[in-house]
Amino acid sequence: MTQDPHSKNTVILSDSPRGLRAAAALLHAGEQVAFPTETVYGLGADARNPRAVAGIFAAKGRPAFNPLIVHVADVEAARALAEFGDDARILATTFWPGPLTLVLPRRPEAGLADLATAGLETVGIRVPAHPLARRLLIAFGGPVAAPSANPSGRVSPTSAAHVLEGLRGRIAAVVDGGTCPVGVESTIVGFDGGRPILLRPGGIPVAALSEALGREIGRPVTTGIIAPGQMTSHYAPRAQLRLEASGPGPDELWLGFGPVESLRPGLNLSPSGDLAEAAANLFAHLREIDAMATKSGVKCVAVAAIPEKGLGEAINDRLRRAAAPRPAG
Ligand code: TXA
Ligand code: MG
Repeated sequence: MTQDPHSKNTVILSDSPRGLRAAAALLHAGEQVAFPTETVYGLGADARNPRAVAGIFAAKGRPAFNPLIVHVADVEAARALAEFGDDARILATTFWPGPLTLVLPRRPEAGLADLATAGLETVGIRVPAHPLARRLLIAFGGPVAAPSANPSGRVSPTSAAHVLEGLRGRIAAVVDGGTCPVGVESTIVGFDGGRPILLRPGGIPVAALSEALGREIGRPVTTGIIAPGQMTSHYAPRAQLRLEASGPGPDELWLGFGPVESLRPGLNLSPSGDLAEAAANLFAHLREIDAMATKSGVKCVAVAAIPEKGLGEAINDRLRRAAAPRPAG
């Protein structure tokens, strides 16, 4: 038997004070530790330690041009890292802690590792609402860089088991906090000359942001890579997805939404048609239906139409990425 010299013994830590102390100590030692947030599990490392941050990119196989989100315990800690304009301040007060990431001009004196922001002059910051994430950030006492805890290009994890499936042996530990209640990643907002721009739809519906600001949120004008994780092919399952299907074909599995009966085997994101439930189920169902497809030799999954409103925008965004053609390998 050959053993990978870089292979780590990934430990599972509980949500007890002892587990969180151990997680914080590992972060201080420059290790990579996965932890739950309300959106998805993050793969954390000390955002001020370049080697620790490099370890995140290595564990995920993430391209170094793709910047990370820096997580902090409160707005005050966020303001030490970046410059907040008026709209950023309103969004932070309204939605933090919560599933919102703000991309803001970084303060060079804050000491963030350049790699965390991929050398950009901006930094993506989030104050997560999950109680375990908050306790970990407080115990650690500093900024934690954390992308979703999955190998690059794969489906984001919403349970500790998902994290282990993708990263076991590549990271020091995962804090097990059960399943993530929101289930899709944070909404990302950047600013262009002071004007708020939606960089990624996510756990906070865009309408809620516009309402808080009293103005519309802009959309990026280019199709180029603005949030590099927005590359078209992402969240790639093995099976091909056919979106906005009215029902499954004879050779397809069915991923339903709402009270549509199907005789074909499959799963339903929310039988009652509830978008929050569908978002919470999305990534686990994508994994499960992909495994069903592999097991039964089915190549295609038909996916029901999801209304493009509220959380539906984030769900459809992830489904489109999961369905996008991708390079072989
Ligand atoms: O809910 C979430 O946002 C989760 C949890 C763990 O917080 N994190 C997450 O991270 O989804 P990640 O790395 O999978 O996605 C972060 C996205 C990427 O698309 C990245 O390009 C973008 O945020 N991003 C980060 N910093 C940025 C910056 N300075 N400018 C533009 N985009 C940025
Ligand atoms: Mg990700």
